[in-house]
Amino acid sequence: MAHATLDGVLIREREAADLHRLVEILRTTHLRDAYPFRPEAAAPGWLVRHSGPSWVLTVDDVVVGHVALDRSDPQRGAEIVRYFLAPQARGTGGASMLLRHALHHAIPDGRDPWLVVMPHNVAAIAVYESAGFVPDGEGGWTDPDGTWHRVLRYRFSGPVEGQGVVDAPSAPSAPSAGGRPPAGAGPGQVAGRTG
Ligand SMILES: CC(C)(COP(=O)(O)OP(=O)(O)OC[C@H]1O[C@@H](n2cnc3c(N)ncnc32)[C@H](O)[C@@H]1OP(=O)(O)O)[C@@H](O)C(=O)NCCC(=O)NCCS
Repeated sequence: MAHATLDGVLIREREAADLHRLVEILRTTHLRDAYPFRPEAAAPGWLVRHSGPSWVLTVDDVVVGHVALDRSDPQRGAEIVRYFLAPQARGTGGASMLLRHALHHAIPDGRDPWLVVMPHNVAAIAVYESAGFVPDGEGGWTDPDGTWHRVLRYRFSGPVEGQGVVDAPSAPSAPSAGGRPPAGAGPGQVAGRTG
């Protein structure tokens, strides 16, 4: 459902058959971008460990990107998680398209979508900020060897700037700027992982 297509580019729900290809991409992004941060996370189990919908971006039927929502905490808005693009698909606008798609599904929850990101993921931070995310605190975790890893928390302060995709009629529409609900939980410590 809620498929979107434009010039050979398609956003559709993730299927089990996509996992192998997505893990291949994750191995690359781990080496290149340190995302996921730990090598063992480049695996199907990590990819599907979230409570919410997920989508893939395809170009000419080849999976090149992924994003998901995690709604596991009912007191908070949806968290944007598992967001990545294969290197060959970067710089094309696909990243913003995928992020906007996730936001269009997250915003009707009534609380600000949010995410956490590590400071070294500079391209992701640039995409988040240009999409309308604003800094909302930071936290991190300490490894057993004492190494501190910092993570930045962002919350969405929309509205979503145009969909850039053609959504199915059932897909939620963007809210008006004045109609946004109050912010969710305030700044605070962030758990020791990133989306
Ligand atoms: C995050 C990601 C999906 C973005 O996709 P993308 O195609 O690279 O995104 P775009 O090209 O649309 O935009 C990237 C932005 O980062 C900027 N950027 C890229 N490398 C940068 C760097 N080293 N320093 C500063 N800015 C940088 C680009 O200039 C661009 O900014 P602009 O739109 O203002 O020109 C992709 O880079 C990725 O998969 N990264 C690894 C996974 C990751 O970090 N996920 C986030 C998890 S929280």
